[in-house]
Amino acid sequence: MRKRIVAGNWKMNMDLQPGIELATGIRDYFSNRKTVADIVLCTPYIHLAILKELLNGSNIGYGAQNCSAETSGAYTGEISCSMIKSTGAGYVIIGHSERRTLFGEGDQLLYRKTKLAITTGLKVIFCCGELLEERKSEIHFNIVKRQLEHGLFGLDENEFKNVIIAYEPVWAIGTGLNATPEQAQEMHSYIRKLIDGRYGDKVADETTILYGGSCKASNASEIFSMPDVDGGLIGGASLKKDEFCAIVESVK
Ligand code: 13P
Repeated sequence: MRKRIVAGNWKMNMDLQPGIELATGIRDYFSNRKTVADIVLCTPYIHLAILKELLNGSNIGYGAQNCSAETSGAYTGEISCSMIKSTGAGYVIIGHSERRTLFGEGDQLLYRKTKLAITTGLKVIFCCGELLEERKSEIHFNIVKRQLEHGLFGLDENEFKNVIIAYEPVWAIGTGLNATPEQAQEMHSYIRKLIDGRYGDKVADETTILYGGSCKASNASEIFSMPDVDGGLIGGASLKKDEFCAIVESVK
């Protein structure tokens, strides 16, 4: 059985103290509750070292939202995979649409980041997804195929086993307009077929594919009930403790 995961992407929100309070609230809520889904908090870098202590002994994982493609050295302002790993973090998000569009990160760079993160011992939450124009012109499958082929499929099978894919249609991110469960299922099943074509059916069957984009407590159960949707990558709704905990509990 593949892993089900609900990951929060805090984006550039939460100063130090509110972030500590949010993580503590989530930890305490789940301290005596079993969940089907694994929980991951992808926070700003400033929280990572503190989460090591805060989440110690809990079943909640944590990670970063980006990393450098370089290992170390004169790259002012960058954070390396090894630094992330040294905080005890287990995950890093790579290829989020905000990195692709606002910071011009392309397929080649994202592949280098992914390879380095995995070599460093991190699990990668690799995001893909099409723009609204691309869906309207019915090239959304081709776009996602290109993102995966160029950004991921250079990995060998052992490396790829450390990848979690997040399908996040850009038109659904932060807009309140989520993909329908059918739209999510259609793309997730297509992604699984692509993985099958590259790595075989066993790997495809074991790969966790998350949905992201305006996912909230009120629509999560329906989206997560689709056979190829293995959980979610949650933006805005991951900043509210009750909402995020309810989303985690929507994975049945
Ligand atoms: P929202 O849940 O705020 O739409 O953001 C989704 C997202 O970008 C998660 O990475």
